Amino acid sequence: MTETNNRSADFPIDPIFLERWSARSFPGEPMPEDDLLTMFEAARWSHSSGNGQPWRFSYTLRTEPNWQQYVDFLTEGNQPWAQHAGALVIVISKLRTSPTDGSEPKPIRTHSLDTGAALQSFTLQAALMGYVAHPMAGIHADRIRAELGISEADYMAEAAIAVGRLAPREMLSERFRGREVQSQRKPLSEILFKGSFKS
Ligand SMILES: Cc1cc2nc3c(=O)[nH]c(=O)nc-3n(C[C@H](O)[C@H](O)[C@H](O)COP(=O)(O)O)c2cc1C
Repeated sequence: MTETNNRSADFPIDPIFLERWSARSFPGEPMPEDDLLTMFEAARWSHSSGNGQPWRFSYTLRTEPNWQQYVDFLTEGNQPWAQHAGALVIVISKLRTSPTDGSEPKPIRTHSLDTGAALQSFTLQAALMGYVAHPMAGIHADRIRAELGISEADYMAEAAIAVGRLAPREMLSERFRGREVQSQRKPLSEILFKGSFKS
């Protein structure tokens, strides 16, 4: 069936699903902004409930003066390796509708689900282009909201993404080097129920 270095699918899927992985070793080099925009374009075409498109993104490149500000948006566990990426993206979801007819805003129940789909499109497009896009829930959401001026009532800072080319794992500090391997998955038998469900 479909295989990469140490990943193997039981059914014939496109290799990109195995090739995408969340590496941490980045070379500390700039990346072309247009490459990043191509990844956002892929995210833009994701599906969402009612085509509501509740995903938003804020980003910077390592060549920009505000690079350190975005690095500081990340938690201590993510900063040491993500600071060597070429770009950092903050993934934001919209929590409620903005009616134009004077009616009350309604909660968007699927805001995280929809935005997660856009995240997956982004990371797969990155993988197709030979980039690593590593999602991170380890962010300082309060700080992001305050510094980017995000309304708490309307938006949620969901995650960040570190984007860049893959560097040799030897470039990582010892703390992270041992974890620089492609992870495995639960078997289908554990997550799949035909006409039933088992908790
Ligand atoms: C929503 C989300 C949040 C994540 N948060 C972090 C994080 O804060 N730090 C980290 O090192 N990896 C984080 N990851 C990466 C996961 O650990 C990784 O996707 C998972 O172990 C599967 O590995 P793979 O992406 O290499 O296939 C996150 C992934 C997702 C989808």
